[in-house]
Amino acid sequence: MIPIARPMIGPEELEAVERVLRSGMLAHGPEVEEFEREFAEYIGVDYAVAVSSGTAALDLLLKAYRIGPGDEVITTPFSFIATANAVLYQGARPVFADIDPETYNLDPDSVVELITPRTRAIIAVHLYGHPADMKPLREIAEDHGLVLIEDAAQAHGAEYMGRRVGSLGDAAAFSFYPTKNMTTGEGGMVTTNDREVAERIRLLRNHGQAEKYLHTELGYNLRMTSIAAAIGRAQLRKLDWMNRRRRENAETMTRILRSVDGIAPPAEKPWARHVYHQYVVRVTEAFPLTRDQLAEKLRQHGIATAVHYPRAIPDQPLYKRLGIDCPRGCPEARKAARQVLSLPVHPAVTVEQARAIAETIKRIAEEQSQEG
Ligand SMILES: Cc1ncc(COP(=O)(O)O)c(C=O)c1O
Repeated sequence: MIPIARPMIGPEELEAVERVLRSGMLAHGPEVEEFEREFAEYIGVDYAVAVSSGTAALDLLLKAYRIGPGDEVITTPFSFIATANAVLYQGARPVFADIDPETYNLDPDSVVELITPRTRAIIAVHLYGHPADMKPLREIAEDHGLVLIEDAAQAHGAEYMGRRVGSLGDAAAFSFYPTKNMTTGEGGMVTTNDREVAERIRLLRNHGQAEKYLHTELGYNLRMTSIAAAIGRAQLRKLDWMNRRRRENAETMTRILRSVDGIAPPAEKPWARHVYHQYVVRVTEAFPLTRDQLAEKLRQHGIATAVHYPRAIPDQPLYKRLGIDCPRGCPEARKAARQVLSLPVHPAVTVEQARAIAETIKRIAEEQSQEG
């Protein structure tokens, strides 16, 4: 079975872990600081602050901007649930806009119409590794005095108009979960050019400790371990290579799938460098099978697939119970949830396998059309 995700762990990561274990400094020590410095430089920002997960990065960012009860945060209804949950953690209200059907990212026009006097921030997600359209979002944020946060959990190394994501909003959150473009096991990072925000997150991740045993804020333990940071440093050195492999696989599949009726391969806008955290096709009514039937056929051919995501966030039981729906219905997000299918694209997939995955879909379409 070709798996849908697999982390690329090699001798560099093993050596890094051994180095930390031998040093005896498992929690404090130079690895975390070095990883932060290297990650900030890679993204092109002044500050990077390492934390225990992408969820922690989002949570602490909203806390750092003092978003709280009574505030509204406009975001996408089509993402992993952590994006919206981070708003709930603060006692604030997520307000769901809609997505661009081509990139699956926040549609700026759908954001503008939801702004109220309570709106404090916008969270844009660079879903699947394709950057959100940040220029119009930046303009909206500036016109209305809103904080613009990037959820870059799926987009390490992606570029928007030649700049790396994570450097485009006021601040950004990254995740290093094992399926991501780079991993630390569990882990996350905040990037920003805002010194005050970076310092506040350093404080909050470490029990609000300004000096040893001097606690000035109600903080948490959301630190990254030295072992995770050492793995992250090794992964960062391989990130561009791993992303190039993802792009090669994506190009191989798109070349073949472009000619298959009812399959819409992922778009890459002229201003974007997509890093294909996921390679997501849309299975439309013109395809002879439903999305779920195609997934089952592929499984029978030894190809794992996944649906990211089968429900828009407001259609999750939690959000239904809370009564938080899309004010304007978010039809594009709901349609995408019915049609999207992720195919294996990760760097452990060879170009030959990528070709075979796309050819298998093409053959399934031909066989079904003949049968039908
Ligand atoms: C878009 C998005 N936001 C946030 C997260 C949360 O990251 P983590 O799993 O590291 O907490 C993830 C990944 O899981 C994600 O895909």
